[in-house]
Amino acid sequence: MARLSGKTAIVTGAAAGNGQAIALRFAEEGCNLALSDVNLSAVQETAAQCTALGVRASAERTDVTARAEVEMMVEAAWANFGTVDILVNNAGIFFNAAFDEMSDDQWRRMLDTNLTSVFLVSQTVIRHWLAAERGGAIVNLASISSSVAFTRSAHYCAAKAGVTALSRCLALEYGPRGVRSNCLAPGIIETAMTRPALGDPATVTDWMRRIPLKRVGQPRDVADGALFLASDESAYITGDMLYIDGGWMVE
Ligand SMILES: NC(=O)c1ccc[n+]([C@@H]2O[C@H](COP(=O)([O-])OP(=O)(O)OC[C@H]3O[C@@H](n4cnc5c(N)ncnc54)[C@H](O)[C@@H]3O)[C@@H](O)[C@H]2O)c1
Repeated sequence: MARLSGKTAIVTGAAAGNGQAIALRFAEEGCNLALSDVNLSAVQETAAQCTALGVRASAERTDVTARAEVEMMVEAAWANFGTVDILVNNAGIFFNAAFDEMSDDQWRRMLDTNLTSVFLVSQTVIRHWLAAERGGAIVNLASISSSVAFTRSAHYCAAKAGVTALSRCLALEYGPRGVRSNCLAPGIIETAMTRPALGDPATVTDWMRRIPLKRVGQPRDVADGALFLASDESAYITGDMLYIDGGWMVE
């Protein structure tokens, strides 16, 4: 029996990397998918791959930092599929910036894309759930950066710590209405986001010292965690954070 059979999930940032892997993993488990990204042609390709797995999948061009676009995307998901059971807040960016050189624009761009987006999309979906007197499962892409510091990454770490706090607050505030809200905290996953750093042997050597499992993660590793937190197998888990980091956080 497919683990998400008959369910519908919104996945943001589904054109590539973790979001694409989550969409495909959910499709393998029978989940219909309302996918979005700023890169329309690439997210359409993800939707086509999901459809080929036998589920229904739509693709929208949505900038998760823009409330009007988010509201249109969520409305379209409801109209197309008649329901939304799962929200995966995955869209995100990363770039290095030394704190003393960071511009206001860099700070705001990071916070808008990685944290305010989670506010906008979650609020829009929760309003629908409350109106329909039903709950659902939210899976937020946090990071080990929610918990540990990285140099030249204060804006990213602050945003991801914010995602973790927001996620816990939603678990508390809407648990009584049937909403579960959890985070995934990936370590180093091989995607476009980490590819530049993965090309630097000194960085990779340093990372391997910190990762007991001695490999970087693959998007599929993240997708398996997302599947668990989205499915009824985690029905009694909320406000939690699942590390997918090869053991980075044990020390
Ligand atoms: N790769 C890692 O090592 C790692 C580690 C921890 C957490 N994460 C988190 O996983 C999530 C996905 O990252 P990834 O590694 O797959 O990166 P990625 O760059 O491969 O994919 C990110 C996707 O988000 C989309 N996106 C960016 N800004 C957007 C916006 N404003 N609106 C809509 N879509 C937007 C991009 O177009 C892209 O398709 C992010 O939240 C990231 O912070 C990644």
